[in-house]
Amino acid sequence: MSAWQPSYPIGERATSYPALIMQTLSSRFRYGAVSQVFHWLTAILVVVVFYMGSGGPEERVYSSANDFSLQIHETLGISVLAIVLLRILWRLKDRIPEDPPMPPWMMYSSKLVHLVLYGLLVATPVTAIVGAWLEGHPLTLLAFGNLGPMLSKAHDVGVSIARIHTILGDAILWVAGLHAAAALFHHFILRDGVLVSMLPGRQ
Ligand code: HEM
Ligand code: HEM
Repeated sequence: MSAWQPSYPIGERATSYPALIMQTLSSRFRYGAVSQVFHWLTAILVVVVFYMGSGGPEERVYSSANDFSLQIHETLGISVLAIVLLRILWRLKDRIPEDPPMPPWMMYSSKLVHLVLYGLLVATPVTAIVGAWLEGHPLTLLAFGNLGPMLSKAHDVGVSIARIHTILGDAILWVAGLHAAAALFHHFILRDGVLVSMLPGRQ
């Protein structure tokens, strides 16, 4: 067994009190429960937000026929932003599991992809909010009603920023798809513990 591998079967559940405490925080081998909830909640929300995305001309995006989809898209999109900001704060406190042995290029490219994903998870909702407000539209949030606009109108700039938002929204799905494929490659081809580190189980 290599020095990296845990000394218990991966997937076994924690039964002792200290082990359960450990599960809240990340360990040497596995992300803790809080990081995992942030991760999988974000992944699910991003996919739902993407599929509820409303493209096309401004008149169609803000038409009453599109009102409900837009409200879902904006509300869940803002939730992604809130969760990611909390997740970044949590990450500054929690440890990060160690990487299994792998070539440096693989390790650095995975860190780069994570950084790009964090960047996109912040920039995508922020460009949407700024774009909508500059265009003169409030955010329409389910259960909260309208918010803003809190910026003075500069319509053409808003349209350009909204366009950037749609490009970033597409990019998240591409990068996350690559990232998910890499996680599956680690699991099924390299047979290391990278994917398992983001799945529930004993530390
Ligand atoms: C991670 C979060 C988000 C993702 C992945 C995302 C993704 C997308 C995508 C892919 C489109 C283009 C849809 C198409 O062309 O068919 C889009 C459009 C749009 N999104 Fe988001 N979005 C997110 C968050 C938000 C938020 C927080 C708002 C709130 C303002 C928002 C408002 C809009 C609007 C208004 C459009 C239409 C843009 C236009 O063409 O004027 N989105 N979004
Ligand atoms: C929209 C979808 C997704 C987003 C935005 C996303 C984002 C992220 C981010 C930012 C990290 C870095 C965590 C950190 O160290 O702070 C991460 C880690 C991870 N993700 Fe995802 N992820 C997504 C989907 C998936 C899927 C579908 C899988 C599995 C097939 C997956 C597997 C993993 C694994 C195994 C790690 C830990 C990798 C490591 O420590 O090297 N992710 N994800």
